[in-house]
Order: sequence, then C-alpha cells, then structure tokens
Amino acid sequence: MKLAVIEGDGVGKEVIPAALQVLDCFDLSLEKIPLNLGYGKWEKTGQAITDADLKILKECDCILFGAVTTPADPNYKSVLLTIRRELDLYANIRPLKPIKGIKGATGNSDFDILVVRENTEGLYSSIEQVVENEAWSKRIITRRASERIAQIACEYAAKRHNHLTIVHKSNVIKADSLFLNTCREVAQSHNVIHDAMLVDAMAYDMVRSPEKYDVVVAPNLYGDILSDLGGALVGSLGLLPSANVGEKQAFFEPVHGSAPDIAGRGIANPIAAVLSVALLLDWLDKPEQARIVREAVEASINENIKTADLGGNSTTAQVTEFLVQYVQSHS
Ligand code: NAD
Ligand code: IPM
Ligand code: MN
Repeated sequence: MKLAVIEGDGVGKEVIPAALQVLDCFDLSLEKIPLNLGYGKWEKTGQAITDADLKILKECDCILFGAVTTPADPNYKSVLLTIRRELDLYANIRPLKPIKGIKGATGNSDFDILVVRENTEGLYSSIEQVVENEAWSKRIITRRASERIAQIACEYAAKRHNHLTIVHKSNVIKADSLFLNTCREVAQSHNVIHDAMLVDAMAYDMVRSPEKYDVVVAPNLYGDILSDLGGALVGSLGLLPSANVGEKQAFFEPVHGSAPDIAGRGIANPIAAVLSVALLLDWLDKPEQARIVREAVEASINENIKTADLGGNSTTAQVTEFLVQYVQSHS
C-alpha cells in the first residue's frame, strides 16, 4: 500500500507529523511518499500542485493530508479541489461525534451525526467568471453525482440508525430539487427512513437538537458549512476528522484549515489529524488499531492533556507524546 503524505501549510506542518507518529506505532506495510504541495510551493514555484504531483497521487492508494492556505488570487488553483476532482473522491465523510469529557458550544453531547458531503460538483464546479461589475459561479447538480452520494449515504445509514436527512434549498434553488428527488429515490430503494431539511433550518436545528440526526447527506457547499458548525457542536474544529472516498482511493484530512492565527506556535490540536489516521486505519481494515487510537484520544482528554482550543494549556508535542505512549502500551 502506498500512502502519500502531504503536510501542506500552516498547522498542517504541525499536525501531520503528530499524526504520523501515532500511525508509526503500528507495524503496517505502508510505503510513505511525502509530497510538498500548497501555498508555500506556489509562492516559490508559481504552482501549488503540478501534473507530476497528480501522477504520483493517482498511483497511491491513500493520502494523509494536513491543510493548505488558499489565497484570494484568481490564478490560484486549489490543491484540495484539484485532488478531490482528479481522483474522483466523490464522498466527503465527516463524523460529528462528541468526545467523552468535552462539552461543545451548546453543552449537548448526546448526538452522533455523519455528514456525507457531495465532493465533486455543486458550487465547487470551478466554472465561474469575475468581471468588473458582475461575477457568477455555476452550480451544477447531476443525477449521477446525486445518486452515488445518496447510495454511499444509505450504505452508512444501514450500518447505523437507518435514518437519512437530505439537506437542500429547493424552495429557492431549482437545481436542488434534482438533488432532493434523486436522494429520495435512492433512500426509498434502500429502505432507509428519510426526511428532508432546508439548509437554513438545518443549521438552526443542528444546534438545538443534534440528537435527532443520524446520516446527513448534502450538496457540496452545504456539507462544508454544516461540518464546521459541527466543529462547534463537538467542541473545536481541532477535533474533526474526514475521509474523501472514491472507488479505489481515499484521502484523509482534518476538517480544519491551515489556521494561520495559531500556526507556528506549537499549540495546534493534533486530534483532528490523529482521528483522520483512525479513519485511514478503518479504511485499511484495521479496526482494532483504529479503536486504540480513538481510545488514546479519549484518555488524553480524561487526563486533561488538552490544547488551548479545548481550554487546556498542553502543546501539540505534549498531546502527541501522550497519544503515542498510550498507543504503544495498548497495542
Ligand atoms: P481554519 O479552519 O484554518 O481555522 C478556523 C478556526 O479554527 C481558527 O480560529 C483556528 O485557529 C481554529 N483551528 C483550526 N484548526 C485548529 C487546530 N488544529 N487546533 C486548534 N484550533 C484550530 O479556517 P480559516 O481560518 O477560515 O482558513 C485558513 C486558511 O485555511 C484559508 O486559506 C482557507 O482557505 C484554508 N482552509 C483549508 C482547508 C484544508 O486544507 N482542508 C480547510 C479549511 C480552510
Ligand atoms: C474543507 C475546506 C475546503 C472546502 C476549502 C479549503 C477548499 O473548507 O475541506 O472543508 O471548501 O472544501
Ligand atoms: Mn470547510
């Protein structure tokens, strides 16, 4: 198995080395291929990701990714969107699961939501134009992409509480009715109990009653926004992992970005990246190892070894050291 490792920019350079230390506790036959991509590379070379990088990524089985900075430059080609699209990693799986001992922004820790975000189209089509007084971005919804994201969402629902919530805004955006209707058809054919929520009401209700939700399927941008909202529900963006999944490959990354406000200070929370390693271990069919990693995270909270975003004063290195020791002594 070949694992590409991309630290990226900002806190990506801090949390990926931490996550790798945890991964390296296990004896897995993974060939690691480090790749330098992102804003830093763009500043030096004018390209954030090259065709040669993409060729290497296409030959890998899986990717562990930190975060990249995206400048507001119209000539900048987003590394993330390029990888997701070129590798056709169509499903962005984002678990919103409280960690024992951490109270999120609402104090409610009685929920377990799986956001399944469509990852290839919607407002992320990159078909857009900015001229002096008018700008537009084409929002694409296709039956094929809606069908396959609904299918994978239903497969997850069947393994959980068999409940799918379809997020849309078809009262205003007509393209969303294709997403909604297609997801409904797929849910019906899978015998998954399903309902639908307008995205604005969904944001409201996820804060008030997150326990009502099981699997949530959403077009690209709604899934992006609702997953950051989930970061606040769980307690910090520094806790949320994700998997971008395709037919053969998968790409694991924290939900958060390069966090320039805290980068370089050694205080970034490594847990989102470490839990992304747990998702990688699940994908590699190593459930026992994934369980130990999650248990280590819980133990670190229990021992009050927490970074500043969780109200603690431990550094990235201290949290990582605890996790590594825990994993080593339990595997
Ligand atoms: P961000 O996710 O980087 O940060 C949002 C907030 O969360 C900040 O207060 C930050 O300090 C905090 N945070 C994030 N990660 C944390 C961690 N590990 N530990 C503790 N606190 C953490 O979002 P932003 O500031 O809007 O974006 C910064 C840059 O990152 C932008 O250029 C954006 O385009 C990019 N971005 C990249 C990704 C990615 O690579 N996956 C995701 C989101 C944003
Ligand atoms: C995410 C990020 C990315 C997105 C950006 C950085 C392109 O916010 O992974 O959630 O919008 O998908
Ligand atoms: Mn996001």
